[in-house]
Amino acid sequence: MKKYTSIAELRTEIKALKRTGKTIGFVPTMGALHEGHLSLARTLKVHCDVRVCSIFVNPTQFNDPKDYQAYVINLENDQKLLEREGVDILFAPSVDEMYPAGFQSTVSLSEITKPWEGASRPGHFAGVATVVTMLFNAVQPDCAIFGEKDFQQLRLIEQMVSDLKMDISIIRGALVRDSDGLALSSRNARLSPQGRVNSLALSRGLYAAKEACQGGEKNAKALEEIVARSVRQVPGAEIDYIAAVREDTLAPVSEIAGACRILVVVKIDGVRLLDNMAIA
Ligand code: PAJ
Repeated sequence: MKKYTSIAELRTEIKALKRTGKTIGFVPTMGALHEGHLSLARTLKVHCDVRVCSIFVNPTQFNDPKDYQAYVINLENDQKLLEREGVDILFAPSVDEMYPAGFQSTVSLSEITKPWEGASRPGHFAGVATVVTMLFNAVQPDCAIFGEKDFQQLRLIEQMVSDLKMDISIIRGALVRDSDGLALSSRNARLSPQGRVNSLALSRGLYAAKEACQGGEKNAKALEEIVARSVRQVPGAEIDYIAAVREDTLAPVSEIAGACRILVVVKIDGVRLLDNMAIA
């Protein structure tokens, strides 16, 4: 695996690959890699000739500076995992390479970023849209993959690529769970042993709501309540939001019709856990 920290050097390599007719696939990450990230790299394999993964902990998408400080990654370990996965190129720029002195541009989207994560984390999605645009410009991929774990982020990227006429196919990567159901996340490592057990309330609630929906319950409030009941069994759990939404606009629904998902965000042990599931 080749490793680049410089955008200019990465571009030279990508141009040379494109001249030989190779297609480029891209997996953007913030490191602390786990099976969820690696599954994206694996899924991408059939879509392109060369796979590029980026590792960059993007300061502008952390609305809470303490969260940024706490975001510790081990680049050496991540590198080994990507090599094992057969990823061809690692792009790991410094903060100065991405945001040199004098930087002053922002990419922001409107409707899709207003609710849910956008409401809870002001500025977060502008940070994501800006850094992903820069990463796309650095890597010049033919296709890029984003996980359904961060469903609103995935929808934002699809919207941005469409609105701004970016010539990149966006591939959806399925959400990967631990064998007991917990959605994999680098933040899970911050859970206490009891918190790790309690965290199962999210996926358990979502599976129960999905089953109820498939059994005929189409009232969104009733389905959200199934998830809430599961979460309320955890002492001290703080619900940020539990919402049944349309898959395309992420607008809340009152009755389930067409493609819908339940989004859930709960703080357990002070760790903000995100999960979601397609229910119809
Ligand atoms: P990060 O949180 O590192 O996630 C990188 C990619 O991995 C995202 O597309 C995310 O949805 C996906 N992912 C994380 N956990 C997953 C899981 N359990 N199953 C499937 N996919 C999963 O998301 C970001 O970084 C950043 O916002 C980024 C897009 C890199 C911009 O900075």
